[in-house]
Amino acid sequence: MSQTINYVVQPGGTVRGTVRVPGDKSISHRSIMFGSLAEGVTEVEGFLEGADALATLQAFRDMGVSIEGPKDGKVTIHGVGLHGLRKPSKALDMGNSGTSMRLLAGIIAGQNFDAELIGDVSLSKRPMNRVVNPLREMGVEVEAAEGGRPPLKINGGVTPTAIEYEMPMASAQVKSCVLLAGLYANGETRVLEPAPTRDHTERMLRGFGYSVKREGDVISLVGGGKLTATKIEVPSDISSATFFMVAAAITPDSDVTLTHVGINPTRVGVINILRLMGANLTLDNEREVGGEPVADIRIQYAPLKGITIPEDQVPLAIDEFPALFIAAACAEGVTTLTGAEELRVKESDRIQAMADGLHILGVDAQPTPDGIVIKGGEMGGGAVETHHDHRIAMAFSIAGLRATGAITVQDATNVRTSFPNFIQLANKLGIRIEEQIS
Ligand code: S3P
Repeated sequence: MSQTINYVVQPGGTVRGTVRVPGDKSISHRSIMFGSLAEGVTEVEGFLEGADALATLQAFRDMGVSIEGPKDGKVTIHGVGLHGLRKPSKALDMGNSGTSMRLLAGIIAGQNFDAELIGDVSLSKRPMNRVVNPLREMGVEVEAAEGGRPPLKINGGVTPTAIEYEMPMASAQVKSCVLLAGLYANGETRVLEPAPTRDHTERMLRGFGYSVKREGDVISLVGGGKLTATKIEVPSDISSATFFMVAAAITPDSDVTLTHVGINPTRVGVINILRLMGANLTLDNEREVGGEPVADIRIQYAPLKGITIPEDQVPLAIDEFPALFIAAACAEGVTTLTGAEELRVKESDRIQAMADGLHILGVDAQPTPDGIVIKGGEMGGGAVETHHDHRIAMAFSIAGLRATGAITVQDATNVRTSFPNFIQLANKLGIRIEEQIS
């Protein structure tokens, strides 16, 4: 049996200081994928050494790519070219990572070998028809288990057909899967987005010298080109920075600076939403690093008020809602979220998991099919469940700052998937969390 890590969070405290959170998860995954498919040697700095990105790295090693590191965030990838991957000798294990499975499905679709993609308990419950359907439209033979869940079995040897695909949901993973299969198709593959989603795939493909077009809500590329190795500097992950942004926003006397954070316009929903709630947040030292905008984010305490979250911000803040729900619980008045049904199919059902945990802490939180209504007020202590979800664990860890009793976060083991040094940085800033191994 592997160990389970729980967190015990002491109530109260203030958060002050400057920290740099680890590298962006989405960009780290893509750096390994595209570096492997490129011609030449790609050097990556600031790589996230979390379990999810490491699952991607291992999958490419299993397909014959020579990768050095990671060591202190540095990775060297000896690219094999778009057609140089080799058949893995066993199923590719994506662990907890939906991004690994969905993007890899697109890449495997263009290979001349068969492969199977498997995942952990949480990933094995997540919907895969969203990638299976467009891949089948492209003529790829792909099978999912009962109900469109993992494992995925993909048969190689078929050249994908270029299609125009209208996505039924705003998903960067689906968009990326189709575009990556499109690298191997004859002709132009086009993806229509119902709303803007993170564009790291498009930016990074261009960084590798591959032409990707955007016209309005259509993103397209023509198959048959090549990727040329490059250097990548991964910015800090705004999704990880969010926990400390919210920590400072809800806690009197707090003042926190997060350095070198990625502020790609498709990821800044959290900044926009916190500002609408009245947060005192400033961006300094704005600059561009390897095709991605970064800044230092300073956040000082100011009282928050409840708001109706604009629906156009939802895809731009999709991973930040567990933390934002804690902000809502500490705000004066009611916060209403709608148009966020995608939260129900993340690493857990994040609407239900957060509502259940908030109830335990005595907060009035009413889940709805596509969102939640949270009334700000007093928060007590208690033991909350994470459902193996890293972001639920970290959200309830920062809630301790405003709780009147200790909070036990039951099963925070998966924090390692995205933020391996969360506890150390949290403690450095003044959040009193201890690990308890069971
Ligand atoms: C990701 C896209 C988002 C996000 C996930 C990472 C990516 O998922 O929630 O954590 O790297 O493309 P969806 O595309 O399913 O919204």
